Amino acid sequence: MNFHVMTLFPEMIENAMEVSITGRAMKAGHITLNAVNIRDYAQNKHNRVDDYPYGGGAGMVMQAEPVYRCYQELVKKCRKDSGVRVIYLSPKGTVFSQSMAQEYAKEEDLIFLCGHYEGIDERVLEEIVTDYVSIGDYVLTGGELPALVLMDAVSRLVPGVLNNAESACTESFSENLLEYPQYTRPEEWNGKKVPSVLLSGNHKLLAEWYRRQSVLETARRRPDLLEKAELSEEEKKLILDCV
Ligand code: ADE
Repeated sequence: MNFHVMTLFPEMIENAMEVSITGRAMKAGHITLNAVNIRDYAQNKHNRVDDYPYGGGAGMVMQAEPVYRCYQELVKKCRKDSGVRVIYLSPKGTVFSQSMAQEYAKEEDLIFLCGHYEGIDERVLEEIVTDYVSIGDYVLTGGELPALVLMDAVSRLVPGVLNNAESACTESFSENLLEYPQYTRPEEWNGKKVPSVLLSGNHKLLAEWYRRQSVLETARRRPDLLEKAELSEEEKKLILDCV
């Protein structure tokens, strides 16, 4: 997976990606990162990339031309010569989800466009953007943190990035259920004991317990997810009994 990021703050992207699992994945060559400063594509003395909005109003707008020139350079580095996804991070976008992360993980290259100020000239967005994506219904100062959120979620789905222990198959949102609660040593902490089934070593009982806890956790914390989950009649009754 090759990530390309158009941003005014490439060091913010690089610094965050360099650590932890994404850093390890870059060193191992499972993912690559190319964060490019849009300012380098300005064509004026002071490298300005923003200007006043037509029609007036507060704030500045990023100009179309430097964004477009930056995009043209990046797209040359992508494997496909057409159809590369260009993701614009914006509160106007579709709210990001695990299933979108799964779709993006299938791509070879992804280009992210991070805005700042009051936005980007609409004409270049029309020209290059394929996907508008939001990370939630709130407004951030720029698209860098959302781009990092997407890259993190996508990276861990790229084959080889997670090791067995970190593997992605029993985690939250698989089958539209949240993950069951986890415990580690000591067996008793602050008067609270680890559920005895976890010490039993009985795989059948364990699997049943994990499933039951996933259903209960989802019913308690994210009941909206249950609409899309496939539940047995017994599990539906379990939920009714717990609410
Ligand atoms: N840019 C500013 N706020 C954002 C959000 N919530 N999601 C994606 N991009 C943004």
